[in-house]
Amino acid sequence: MKKVGVSFLSSKNIPRDISLLNETDVDYIHVDIMDGKFVKNKTMPFREMRHINDYTSKRLDVHLMVEEASKYIPLYAELNTEYITIHVEIEEDIMKDLELIKSYSIKCGLAISPDTKISSLIPYLPYVDMILVMSVVPGEGGQAFIEESENRIKEIRDLLNSYNIPAIISVDGGVNDKTKDMCSEADMLVSGSYVVGSNNFQEKISSLRI
Ligand code: DX5
Ligand code: ZN
Repeated sequence: MKKVGVSFLSSKNIPRDISLLNETDVDYIHVDIMDGKFVKNKTMPFREMRHINDYTSKRLDVHLMVEEASKYIPLYAELNTEYITIHVEIEEDIMKDLELIKSYSIKCGLAISPDTKISSLIPYLPYVDMILVMSVVPGEGGQAFIEESENRIKEIRDLLNSYNIPAIISVDGGVNDKTKDMCSEADMLVSGSYVVGSNNFQEKISSLRI
């Protein structure tokens, strides 16, 4: 069965929605962080974001859509965090950032945007616990799943198999009960508006697992 993470990026009432998610069997709260540089939008600062932990005991899957990841990693490492994911497209030294994440005994992920060559992941594969395949252009919730992602997920699966790498594959963006079928090779699905925009979070989460 696939793991499911839910993003509250499109939530209108974050404390309420995180409390509701805490009552479901969701595996992770997916925390999208945007800096207004790597992507146009900007999310709330850490001093506000840290309060997630007041509303949930679920583990966090932190997705850093930021240029200066090394500034954010120590902050998010303080929370109940299982994964911190950085983007392969950033200018910072990726290896150093992955090592920084691991220094907190937190699993590290590497995210890849839809237009980035899959081969750019290769140097980092032995060091990552997760590849986050973006199935939308990062930057906002509620976008449509890019269908070409299905091939990219399969290609990444083949790549991991050929190098015998145990990293999991997670898919993020436009995931719902229809598009999940294009993610059959994934181990984890991240969904935002499909779940948080509904009036029955558990029903939507369950529909992603089957
Ligand atoms: C996109 C974010 C995603 C997104 C998921 O930049 O990383 O996590 O918000 O939300 P939906 O499912 O609405 O695309
Ligand atoms: Zn995300």
